[in-house]
Amino acid sequence: MKTAICYFTGTGNSLFVAERLAENLKDATLFNIAELRGDSSPLKEYGVIGLVFPVYFYGLPNIVRRFAASFSFDGIKYVFAVATYGAMAGDALSSLKDEIAKTGMTLSYAAKVTMPDNYTISFPVPSEKMIELKNASARLKCEKIARDIQGFKRKIPVFSPFAITRHFSGADREKDRKFIMTAACNGCGDCVKLCPVGNISMKNERPQFHHNCELCLSCFHRCPKKAINYGTKTIRKGRYVNPEVRLKTDDEI
Ligand SMILES: Cc1cc2nc3c(=O)[nH]c(=O)nc-3n(C[C@H](O)[C@H](O)[C@H](O)COP(=O)(O)O)c2cc1C
Repeated sequence: MKTAICYFTGTGNSLFVAERLAENLKDATLFNIAELRGDSSPLKEYGVIGLVFPVYFYGLPNIVRRFAASFSFDGIKYVFAVATYGAMAGDALSSLKDEIAKTGMTLSYAAKVTMPDNYTISFPVPSEKMIELKNASARLKCEKIARDIQGFKRKIPVFSPFAITRHFSGADREKDRKFIMTAACNGCGDCVKLCPVGNISMKNERPQFHHNCELCLSCFHRCPKKAINYGTKTIRKGRYVNPEVRLKTDDEI
């Protein structure tokens, strides 16, 4: 059966997982949720739909929540979800299950894969060794998840005590008000291309944030000059992009 793997990513971890799943599944096609722009009609011909996404604040990125609420087709036989996370996936998968249930569909299978933590606002960038180890173990886990999916296994997330976080997780799109630019910003405008949701434009050679932010941190981690910071506490921190994927915008910047 044809499988559509729909992913959202800021720094490549979820794309890494989506690609590994596609490698191990027969007839799977990748779709970037941000590029679908809310139009789920290209997925109509697929019998199996998968969602691969990062955990944000123990919950779902807003864009993934909206996407999950947008599709409900007669032809879908099996829906699966794989969350990538740094340390604690919290309520993300059971929250997704409930979101999908509202459309009249059922989440049949859910799994989580630990990846390098890209929440550099609070944590340091993982070491090269740690990144290598996490990617290697994710590779193995994806093989197992793909076998489960191929066999239409049912594995449903149970209710999580983290459900309380639903009331605030990922909800604040104005979190971009804290982004600042250091003097290193040369006005190149690459951040405009790096933002998956079109939240950045340039004015007088300086990025403007339009308060529709997912906080995916793509602009922060991938600015060629490391000029974008989240307040001042990230200024001396490193940056992270999964080294084993090629993000589409890599060709453009
Ligand atoms: C805004 C934000 C919130 C995050 N919250 C969590 C969290 O609650 N629990 C966790 O384990 N990881 C958290 N992370 C880490 C990411 O889920 C993890 O690194 C993920 O694999 C990143 O995926 P990506 O590279 O596809 O964007 C957070 C990252 C960001 C940017």
